[in-house]
Amino acid sequence: MILIIDFGSQYNQLIARRVREFHVYSQIEPPDITIEEIKNLKPEGIILSGGPSSIYEKARPGTDPGLFDLGIPVLGICYGMQFMVDVLGGTVKKAAKREYGYALLQAKSEKGIFSGVDKITPCWMSHGDSIKALPKGFKITASTKNAAIAAMANHRKNHFGLQFHPEVHHTPQGQRMLKNFILDVCRCQPSWTIPSFVNDSIARIKDRVGCKKIILGLSGGVDSSVTAVLLHKAVGKRLTCIFVDNGLLRMDEAEKLKSALRQHLKINIRFVNAQNKFLRPLKNITDPEKKRKIIGKVFIEVFETEANKAKGVEFLAQGTLYPDVIESVSAFGGPTAVIKSHHNVGGLPGKMRLALLEPLKYLFKDEVRELGKTLGIPEELIWRQPFPGPGLAIRIIGEVTRKRLSVLRKVDAVLIEEIKKNGYYKRLWQSFAVLLPIKSVGIMGDQRIYENIIAIRAVTSTDAMTADWAKLPHKFLGLISNRIINEVSGVSRVVYDISSKPPSTIEWE
Ligand code: XMP
Repeated sequence: MILIIDFGSQYNQLIARRVREFHVYSQIEPPDITIEEIKNLKPEGIILSGGPSSIYEKARPGTDPGLFDLGIPVLGICYGMQFMVDVLGGTVKKAAKREYGYALLQAKSEKGIFSGVDKITPCWMSHGDSIKALPKGFKITASTKNAAIAAMANHRKNHFGLQFHPEVHHTPQGQRMLKNFILDVCRCQPSWTIPSFVNDSIARIKDRVGCKKIILGLSGGVDSSVTAVLLHKAVGKRLTCIFVDNGLLRMDEAEKLKSALRQHLKINIRFVNAQNKFLRPLKNITDPEKKRKIIGKVFIEVFETEANKAKGVEFLAQGTLYPDVIESVSAFGGPTAVIKSHHNVGGLPGKMRLALLEPLKYLFKDEVRELGKTLGIPEELIWRQPFPGPGLAIRIIGEVTRKRLSVLRKVDAVLIEEIKKNGYYKRLWQSFAVLLPIKSVGIMGDQRIYENIIAIRAVTSTDAMTADWAKLPHKFLGLISNRIINEVSGVSRVVYDISSKPPSTIEWE
């Protein structure tokens, strides 16, 4: 495996994915990881990521320099390289001006990272400070016009530094450079595949859980369904799943899910109708974060009560994915900023004194779907678009009432029906309707109406970290708008959201 030490770069997940493209497992860990923890992970190579900090900042992130003495190959990227230079005795120069964008890289070495790489090749730079003097034992391995030391290597110790980002596609030969590091320098075996992951995880779960019991909150989404099947394969009847109907689900969703889950997953599932428990405290609440907090709190209460009914449980499983973990790191003081409080990570296990089991914690969404397929889960469940825990409450801007829920459910049903019928469902990461808190005038027949506005949001994405608004054909958008206004009373206008993430998040609240 390759260990990636996270200095806060927005590209960290990309590095992890790039490594996995070579069928080598990769794991991102925070900089405060100890040498002992590193040794336990037994990495064949370490990548020090880039990050927004300057080596000159007082609060700069740093990791134990002892990792350079472990005899494990290390690759420092951008800030990671500067950190390496600083702790190994070289000099980093404070830059007067940031260098950002394309640069032409001139390779001065033909081995290590640059084996088989063109002598001149484009690279993507994004850095403030630059290297002035190399640490002992290092040589310059590539330069650009503005950076004499754009890459460096100590081939004897297998320590490498790249000032540019090999992981982004703007560095066309970056993947070759990473391959050289991972497969040739670190000598990783390309053996990490989803079927191998299934066998390893089942063995790990069995080992950890022994003869104890597990509970899992099942939402019917791909993540929790895959988690359920994987756990069921490992512990069978000792897994109990709890499905909470919070009253914020889509049209007939609870019923449809119930039959799909019962039919396809031969698993112990308890269905709990807790609609009133959620809707009551949401009365008069309009602030998005307050809504999320209330829903999170009630969910914990309901879940806890149900979980206690299953006697002798010691583990709580969650379908947490890698992007959730990384996005939530901030909540515990990590480098990325808190955008929204997701309630799927944290909260529950501490309160319930249960040990947490997150078998998908290091997987990306596409890997989870592949895993689902390997486990024999039907397409209908694997390809469900993500639906947020707080449900329609964060798609109703303003107060959540039964009446407004009913309007949004009808609109959503029309929208999804058309999206599926026209073959867009699988191609879109998410497609949904948002009910706005403003009204607009319309004419229906000869009558003046003054009714709600619906915004349609449809995005493409690979992991929800970034998303593009979907360029759906105008004719199709017109068709949806017509159907919604004609078929759902209480709607006088439909608009289409043309914002991408960043800066606009996928959900409106
Ligand atoms: P945003 O809106 O932050 O959402 O761009 C990114 C992805 O996360 C989903 N989302 C949530 N999922 N609980 C969840 O389980 C939540 O509180 C939550 N908030 C947003 C959102 O639908 C998108 O897929």
